[in-house]
Amino acid sequence: MERLEEKVAVITGASSGFGREMSITFAREGAKIVCADINREPNPDGYEEKKEPTDQEIVSAGGQAVFVKCNITQQDEVTNLIQTAVSTFGRLDIMMCNAGVYRAGMLTHEMPVEFLDDCLNVNVRGTWFCCQEAIKQFLAQKTRGKIIVTCSSSAINPYPVQAPYSMSKAAIGMLAQTLALEYGAAGINTNAICPTGCKTALTSNGYNDENFRRIQTSKIPLGRWGEPKDVANLALFLASDEADYMNGAMVLLDGGETLSGTRISDFGIAFE
Ligand SMILES: NC(=O)c1ccc[n+]([C@@H]2O[C@H](COP(=O)([O-])OP(=O)(O)OC[C@H]3O[C@@H](n4cnc5c(N)ncnc54)[C@H](O)[C@@H]3O)[C@@H](O)[C@H]2O)c1
Repeated sequence: MERLEEKVAVITGASSGFGREMSITFAREGAKIVCADINREPNPDGYEEKKEPTDQEIVSAGGQAVFVKCNITQQDEVTNLIQTAVSTFGRLDIMMCNAGVYRAGMLTHEMPVEFLDDCLNVNVRGTWFCCQEAIKQFLAQKTRGKIIVTCSSSAINPYPVQAPYSMSKAAIGMLAQTLALEYGAAGINTNAICPTGCKTALTSNGYNDENFRRIQTSKIPLGRWGEPKDVANLALFLASDEADYMNGAMVLLDGGETLSGTRISDFGIAFE
């Protein structure tokens, strides 16, 4: 029995990074996938081995997927996205609100207002539309539904030089918790995934900088950056029936980074 057998999932930001891995993972578990993004091709700055569009890769592997071009900041495009899911696959079961942008690298007093505008527009306004339109569909269907929001560890623990991004992620973490309160009684579970820096196009500037990568890695007890598959595996659990009692959780996924600033390496201890 596949974990998402017969489920229909809409995944935003599906062309690259987390969204791509989520799409492929969900499809492998039997879900029919509506891949939504502003571009169909994966971001060339990413670390994907295959560069074919996500929907094409799923179909080549025997799964079911379609691509819908959708800018989540435009409500009519998000409405069309959900309608396409229903007209193509008959229903909606899982809304994976994953698309987002990152603007960072400066102290707050130096940042252009465009950084704030971009983060609020895509991360907050875009996620808002995706949640609204999915909820309308779940209520019309009179079925259970799962909403998952890709949030960030920085929504819980602030990180310097990225105030607009962290603020936007804190906002959608609160949105997820509010939806959990409002729609739990309608059978709609809403949860948020809060990853630390992971290896995708979004963070490639940092990951490709050897010094930054080393410093960042040293803060993580597990000793490595997160990978898209780490995030996709958590999303798979939250999307499945196994997570039917999860609602309103902000699940930290950070390799233990935020537990403490002290590491065993500070005492000269190391494992072979
Ligand atoms: N990579 C990390 O370290 C990290 C950590 C925490 C949270 N996140 C969050 O994870 C999510 C996915 O990021 P990723 O790391 O996979 O990045 P990514 O850049 O590889 O993928 C993001 C995708 O979103 C799409 N997108 C951007 N704006 C869009 C819009 N307006 N409408 C539709 N699609 C749009 C992009 O085209 C891209 O394909 C984002 O919300 C990001 O903030 C990432």
